[in-house]
Amino acid sequence: MALPSEILTRADLNTLWLLGDPVDHSLSPLIQNTALRTLGRNAIYIASQVKSDSFEAVVRALPQMGALGANVTVPHKMRAFQLCDSLSEAAREMRAVNTLHFRDGEIFGENTDGIGWWSSLSRVCRHLSFQRAVVIGAGGAARAVCHTLMKQGITTLVLLNRTVGNAVNLKAELPRTGEVAVDRLESFEQHLGSDTLVVQTTSVGLRGGGTPVPLPSRWPERCFLSELIYGKETALMSGVRRLGGEASDGLGMLCGQAAESLALWMGLPPESIPFQEMMRVAREKLKS
Ligand code: ATR
Repeated sequence: MALPSEILTRADLNTLWLLGDPVDHSLSPLIQNTALRTLGRNAIYIASQVKSDSFEAVVRALPQMGALGANVTVPHKMRAFQLCDSLSEAAREMRAVNTLHFRDGEIFGENTDGIGWWSSLSRVCRHLSFQRAVVIGAGGAARAVCHTLMKQGITTLVLLNRTVGNAVNLKAELPRTGEVAVDRLESFEQHLGSDTLVVQTTSVGLRGGGTPVPLPSRWPERCFLSELIYGKETALMSGVRRLGGEASDGLGMLCGQAAESLALWMGLPPESIPFQEMMRVAREKLKS
């Protein structure tokens, strides 16, 4: 996306930032600046590589420079959580912050990963009325997904992880609003059933190769795979599709969390953010 030359000569723009390390392959500037332009907003979104030892100084300097907010990505989400003056409920539950909003002289921390993922899923999955979910992985992404699933009324949750102890720890921090079970990756097929949402949160498949769980022999009706990896069809996605199942990749989560962050900074309802346009430019970029 070429920036209009007018932008580069303006001195009155609000700034929004992406703070991470690395950031050079991030799609966020493309997605966010596309949305800002579509909305006709007087702001620009800039990615900045920030090392861990300067992260706090950068966060404290941004509001002093008049910045409106920032997205925080790997490896700074937990440090951002510790630095905020106030936090949303989602950020508190996930103990991680991906969105900073500089307002009323304070640093407010939000986490839009979970709600962004869920709202994007509702756009691609026609029957979002699951009672059961199977989550593969127990890291930071799984934590955002699990808290969101419990909030959305899932009553039976199965956590599958290579290191079972990590899944046990994740289970311990979830609200006791439903039944949560922990098992090994190899048990995947026995936990599948109709009306089940499967969420793949590990990095397995990111660089090609295999699947984190053994492919099942059949795929039940109304069972849906939400893969969090984007930019490719993973072996798990293609395996599920070969069995006649439906699957989506993680681009929806990327654009969904971006849309929720932008809604917060702009003071707009999330529905008014041009999500489809954000998805379109991101898909186009990944193809090029
Ligand atoms: P993120 O924050 O992106 O979720 P993470 O916290 O490092 O990343 O979590 C990585 C997840 O992928 C974990 O569930 C990890 O399993 P362990 O808890 O056993 O480490 C899982 N994972 C990473 N590499 C894996 C592999 N080769 N096979 C199976 N699971 C793997």
